[in-house]
Amino acid sequence: MNFFLLKEWLIYFHLKTDEHSLHSPFFFRFYKEHLKSGKNDAYIHSIETQRQKLLKSEQTIEVQDLGAGSKTLKSDKRKIKDIAKNSLSSPKFSLLLNQLIKQFHFKQIVELGTSLGVNTAYLADADTASKIYTFEGDENLIDIAKSTCAKYKNIQFIKGNINECLPHFLLDMASSIDLVYLDANHTYEATLNYFNQLLPHHHSGSIFIFDDIHWSSGMKQAWKKIKQHPEVKSTIDIFDAGFVFFNPDFEKQHYILNF
Ligand SMILES: C[S@@+](CC[C@H](N)C(=O)[O-])C[C@H]1O[C@@H](n2cnc3c(N)ncnc32)[C@H](O)[C@@H]1O
Repeated sequence: MNFFLLKEWLIYFHLKTDEHSLHSPFFFRFYKEHLKSGKNDAYIHSIETQRQKLLKSEQTIEVQDLGAGSKTLKSDKRKIKDIAKNSLSSPKFSLLLNQLIKQFHFKQIVELGTSLGVNTAYLADADTASKIYTFEGDENLIDIAKSTCAKYKNIQFIKGNINECLPHFLLDMASSIDLVYLDANHTYEATLNYFNQLLPHHHSGSIFIFDDIHWSSGMKQAWKKIKQHPEVKSTIDIFDAGFVFFNPDFEKQHYILNF
């Protein structure tokens, strides 16, 4: 952990609270049923087997990074096991994404940053009637993600630079988007740019999830700006990610919660 992240973690650790600070029935339930559900036995066995294979794979691939890059992996030639170790979220977080789709009956889901496809598989497994649109710029990663997600028919892989693909995709998107998970280009500009493009496609029950909101000072500033946006009503910061809610009935409130 670098110095910036360590400092951010210490601030988060000091500020994070639990259900006792939650007066809103919605967020109390959200915390108890999702963030602290303790459903660790619900991990999807077939996807976790894939995760373990990726974490052990000695295969080297060439990776073209179109985002802010990695703080630990500097070479373009990377072992799959190193990519898996550095870029995949925890099983607990993958399961949280899956449970949210089930709980809120989300059907239209956008993921920015497919990588090896582990979270994509968790998103797709929640409901076969949902549609997952996942964006990735690197061809080799898309190929691996397709094999990770081979059994799911409800995924559309969108290959290319998100800066160029997202505007075209959104032009053709007729229905609103229920869930957006942004885990691609971790820069201030890209994060706000993607947020502003996606914003007109939300509805009052949509959730936007931003990964790595404490990863750099740019991401921290982007998260601050997103929280201030007039259409954003409430947010939750669980350190690894930030959740944005738009329900106009919610009070403007920003929670920092244990996960
Ligand atoms: C942190 S990884 C995603 C991890 C994945 N969400 C998971 O946990 O399973 C970020 C991915 O975003 C991709 N990416 C970053 N910037 C991009 C861009 N501008 N266009 C397309 N893909 C991009 C990278 O190639 C990388 O695979």
